[in-house]
Amino acid sequence: MDNKVAPNGTASFRIGEKDIELPVLKGSIGPDVVDIRKLYGESGLFTFDPGFTSTASCESQITFIDGDKGILLYRGYPIDELAENATFLEVCHLLLNGELPTAAEYADFEHTITRHTLLHDQFNRFFQGFRRDAPPMAIMVAAVGALSAFYHDSTNIHDPQARMISTHRLIAKMPTIAAQAYKYSIGQPFVYPRNELGYAENFLHMCFSVPAEEYTPHPAVVKAMNRLLILQADHEQNASTSTVRLAGSSEANPFACIAAGIACLWGPLHGGANEEALNMLREIGTVDKIPDFVKGVKNRERKLMGFGHRVYKNYDPRAKVMQKTTHEVLDALDMRNDPLLKVALELERIALSDEYFISRKLYPNVDFYSGITMNALGFPPEMFTVLFAMSRTVGWIAQWAEMISDPSQKIGRPRQIYTGPTERHFTPLDKRG
Ligand code: SDX
Repeated sequence: MDNKVAPNGTASFRIGEKDIELPVLKGSIGPDVVDIRKLYGESGLFTFDPGFTSTASCESQITFIDGDKGILLYRGYPIDELAENATFLEVCHLLLNGELPTAAEYADFEHTITRHTLLHDQFNRFFQGFRRDAPPMAIMVAAVGALSAFYHDSTNIHDPQARMISTHRLIAKMPTIAAQAYKYSIGQPFVYPRNELGYAENFLHMCFSVPAEEYTPHPAVVKAMNRLLILQADHEQNASTSTVRLAGSSEANPFACIAAGIACLWGPLHGGANEEALNMLREIGTVDKIPDFVKGVKNRERKLMGFGHRVYKNYDPRAKVMQKTTHEVLDALDMRNDPLLKVALELERIALSDEYFISRKLYPNVDFYSGITMNALGFPPEMFTVLFAMSRTVGWIAQWAEMISDPSQKIGRPRQIYTGPTERHFTPLDKRG
């Protein structure tokens, strides 16, 4: 990646009796940054920023978020335009290569991905080691890490050809692994991918088809699946993407890095929020129970899952597209009276008008409506984060590839402020009283 930041003046600091000037750098859009790489050398000071709320960890040209304006761009394209008009594989090509594919490029990319969807047949035995009630996310973390055992021939991160093959294998095989984790959890036989099906439809086929009868998903279901994949594909330096970058900075192989990202995404404050949001709506049950629930949130007894975001201090643009998709799916499947939707719409109305949430800039995020949509598509809550991981794999890989090719890249190693005991010496056990 060519470094594209531009100098934009300096920032002056007076530390004790010393004046320090640090460069200010400008990107193409978004806040400037103070380049603090020389701060410790010139001042003996670290910066302190738990949760990295004000710290840029890298330069990137992939995704941009303006949290105050509710803007999300993938390589400059607004998320709603892509969700409305593109296929997920077009978006994969865009995130990985920087441009939407031409017709010829798309045909070639789709052909390549389609022919990597099968897993090594020994992999089927991998699942047999789990209990049937194993959470599918636990299986995903293990299975994706195990890919480096089955596809060790493409783990040399210094070989561009190996990096490309691993990229194709991960994007192609995630749906197969996800579907097999689901089938294993419900005791149904694995369904193999079909090369004549598109990416989203192939995944639905592997999840919901059974040997006993034909399965043809409703077009609105395929469209919703495609949109879900696009909306969750990448999101700047979120927790799981930062995990993938940090793992990749030690030159770990791509399968291991993506497995680390899946593990981080699993957390209920991150990708696990869609499952928690749906469970919350089910727990509330009916609209008349909402006031009591909101009282509990204000008393800090629990969080409003699917609300709030570290960056979006306005409506998450993905949530708007997801809400539209939810209505389309429920209408198409004649589920418009879904009680969960009624609770969700009323909970959103209350939260958007209540000073407690307004003052904290808590708006619905992508996870608030995605759970209702995935529930309507037929997935159980324990599969929601699996679908998020399947979608985010292309974002993780694009960010990992950008990091690997960045000449300024070095192993990530944050510092700390230490407040533990100063040096002291060992006392033998019989002298410790
Ligand atoms: C994702 O980073 C990404 O980009 C992530 C993601 C992606 O695509 O990769 O967008 C995907 O993870 C979306 C977020 C999904 N998580 C949830 O929906 C879980 C519920 N939300 C939160 O836990 C919370 O909003 C976070 C974790 C998402 C953001 O938390 P922050 O930025 O660290 O904010 P905070 O915890 O400091 O909260 C600020 C205030 C606090 O109140 P006060 O102490 O100031 O009085 O807001 C309150 C918090 O208590 N608050 C909430 C709340 N979220 C924050 N109160 C109730 N319900 C919530 N959901």
